[in-house]
Amino acid sequence: MRQIYLDNSATTPVRPEAADAMREVLLSDYGNPSSFHSLGIKAERIIKEARRQLAAACGVNEAEVIFTSGGTEANNLAVKGVARRHRKRGKHLITTRVEHPSVLNAFRALETEGFEVDYLPVDREGLVSPAEVIAALREDTLLVSVMHINNEVGSVMPVAEIGRLLKEKNPQTVFHVDAVQSFGKLPVDPRKWQADLVSISAHKIHGPKGSGALLCREGLLLEPLFHGGDQEQGIRPGTENTAGIAGFAVACRLALRDREENYRKMTGLKKYLAAEIKRQIKDTSVNGPEEGAAHILNVTFAGIKGELLVRFLAEEGIYVSTGSACHSRRPEPSHVLLAMGLSAEEVGASVRFSFSALTGREDIEYTLEKLEPAVAALRRMTGRKK
Ligand SMILES: Cc1ncc(COP(=O)(O)O)c(C=O)c1O
Repeated sequence: MRQIYLDNSATTPVRPEAADAMREVLLSDYGNPSSFHSLGIKAERIIKEARRQLAAACGVNEAEVIFTSGGTEANNLAVKGVARRHRKRGKHLITTRVEHPSVLNAFRALETEGFEVDYLPVDREGLVSPAEVIAALREDTLLVSVMHINNEVGSVMPVAEIGRLLKEKNPQTVFHVDAVQSFGKLPVDPRKWQADLVSISAHKIHGPKGSGALLCREGLLLEPLFHGGDQEQGIRPGTENTAGIAGFAVACRLALRDREENYRKMTGLKKYLAAEIKRQIKDTSVNGPEEGAAHILNVTFAGIKGELLVRFLAEEGIYVSTGSACHSRRPEPSHVLLAMGLSAEEVGASVRFSFSALTGREDIEYTLEKLEPAVAALRRMTGRKK
């Protein structure tokens, strides 16, 4: 059966070039990067080169790249690392209601440690207002954390404006941006955003799962999540995942080489799919801004159950999801769509299509062919006419 993979915001297939680099490291360059012998030095060199590439890709210094086990760890290290290290300066933290669970749940954990957190609302498009971020600032605000691209609806947060206003008003407050969904798609520029911390992850750009990084401004002190050796400047101890890091670097190089072209292509696919869904299927609405990220399209099909549509499409070899992968197996409604003001029923009737550089026009055509009959069948099941 034909397979159409439209769940790229959950994860992407690994590019063969990244897999080849990883295989080489696993089988031949297996030394411990901390060992003094030649195998160790070779592994250390691989990590050094990957660090150089990632730093160059984001316009930061090599010493500012801390490799982690992915976006979740990078987010936890940023949020908990700042709060715990600087608790003497204050206990106030700010984030938004639509962050990824790896950010939201890190903040919830900090609340149990005595920190006070403001979870800022978003508008109907999923966007936080920079003025509201600034209005929420207190003298003792330690950290503001705002994502760049929302993983469920593709809204692109005004992080550069937030960074500018924040640093004008409270230069001491640390600014963290979760750029897991934007890295490799839109420019990730910590300096321009005046961000002190930025999280990125390999598996959203055709690299391996379990590999990511936190970009951390030089001089900013963080409390490590783990205690151990002095790898990654002691901020993230543990023997490095050399293969994962090597795969990340290759995926990064390829994603950035064709970034603009791929982004244009995905913009075209998204516009086409959105327009055809609206034209072919009654009572549908797109969630998130028209001008949102090119790779994410979230649609409500009134009168259906999103999980059932996901299952119907999977039977045709088309893979989509009801929102974040973190929610799609659980009946809990999406916190992002609820925060945007959708009713529980609308949230339950929503499905996310997400693209990658490897998605083609023919994949969208095939999806459209199967989508209309699937929605019509589901609507008939619930007694709706169309
Ligand atoms: C916005 C966002 N942040 C963080 C993460 C977590 O990244 P990882 O899967 O590498 O732990 C994800 C993954 O879905 C994400 O979409």
